[in-house]
Amino acid sequence: MKPIKVGICGLGTVGGGTFNVLTRNAEEIRRRLGREIRVEMIGARRPNPDCDTASVRTSADIFDVARDPDVDVVVELIGGYDTARELVLTAIKNGKHVVTANKALIAEHGNEIFDAAAAKGVSVAYEAGVAGGIPVIKAVREGLSANKISTIAGIINGTGNFILSEMRDKGRDFADVLAEAQALGYAEADPTFDVEGIDAAHKLTILAAIAFGIPLQFEKAYTEGISKVSPEDVRYAEALGYRIKHLGIARRRAEGIELRVHPTLIPSSRLIANVDGVMNAVMVDGDAVGPTMYYGAGAGAEPTASAVVADIVDVARSFEHPECAVTGLGFGSNELQDLPILPVDQIESAYYLRLDASDKPGVMTTITGVLSQAGINIEAILQKEVRADEQLAHIIMLTHSVQESQMNSAITDLEALDVVSGQVTRIRMDHLD
Ligand code: HSE
Repeated sequence: MKPIKVGICGLGTVGGGTFNVLTRNAEEIRRRLGREIRVEMIGARRPNPDCDTASVRTSADIFDVARDPDVDVVVELIGGYDTARELVLTAIKNGKHVVTANKALIAEHGNEIFDAAAAKGVSVAYEAGVAGGIPVIKAVREGLSANKISTIAGIINGTGNFILSEMRDKGRDFADVLAEAQALGYAEADPTFDVEGIDAAHKLTILAAIAFGIPLQFEKAYTEGISKVSPEDVRYAEALGYRIKHLGIARRRAEGIELRVHPTLIPSSRLIANVDGVMNAVMVDGDAVGPTMYYGAGAGAEPTASAVVADIVDVARSFEHPECAVTGLGFGSNELQDLPILPVDQIESAYYLRLDASDKPGVMTTITGVLSQAGINIEAILQKEVRADEQLAHIIMLTHSVQESQMNSAITDLEALDVVSGQVTRIRMDHLD
């Protein structure tokens, strides 16, 4: 059989990893697919010193790859939005299948891209966009296709998890760990995407779309990063039997879909609470299968390349029978449901609250009275004297689940009390049970 001819656009961390995995494992991949995958062309402005590309046609213009008559599959690994969108749409227009690791592109322009691909009868595969090397797109979209999925909760940004883990275990400085993640090729070009949760929200948007059969709606995801997580909250959470993780949560409720990324307290005994470093983990709950969990490296050259190459193999398998290829989101394009994405004040969550209060008799009763008035049930309370000179104590409370709007007004009432100093710190909590 004729080889599948691939054009790689972008030869950075992931592009270089993809080239090297395709080259090193060429024979094993051929044995699986039944035909050779050949890198026909590379579009990159600079060579990658880790890749021996001397025998491959190269162009500094990535659009040459998208238009080349000999290329069957265009692999978009340049990242970013506008040029990547144009490149992918050009490739589709020219009848090429597309493989991409670009979650931002899929989360923000995926609806348009999948429509264009369907009209042209080509595939767009994006496994590497979510959770690096973990084949979670395939697991949810195909492996769990029998299920009505209720919840997805995951650690889906390796850089953020690496930073939180190093800060907790080694007491390292935030900026120092971030610099290491950048040097290791984990972080996005703009690392605020990692730290402020935008990257995780891109990935969660994709997971929610394939889990619930809804359009991609990144703009409706609630996004909160890890930059405000303080070492004392990490310590108090541990003392209460919880870990703080940066979670993406997509949950189906009767009223609509919760779609949110934020720091979250999780019981330390949960498997996902023990996922550290650059590792990712995604928990998916289906009505038939029950809870399932997928774990592995969420970033890095070869883990991400593993997913890119698997997508190339998948796309190549559907060459002979394009009508059997899985649709972009795994649901018929006319079958997507317009379920509402709930605004954050309508989500339901348990909470961790920390506040500074006067250390004198009756204060605890006043504070708990505010929560009780708001109909909020307290699960645990911890008091630590922090500023004896000013007679201020840290009070930490864990609550049962309530609607966020209810918690917002309780926090406003708490902050208005004379005995409470400054703002109340609030971190959402999830038992994931
Ligand atoms: N910056 C991303 C992360 C890379 O840290 O998870 C993989 O998507």
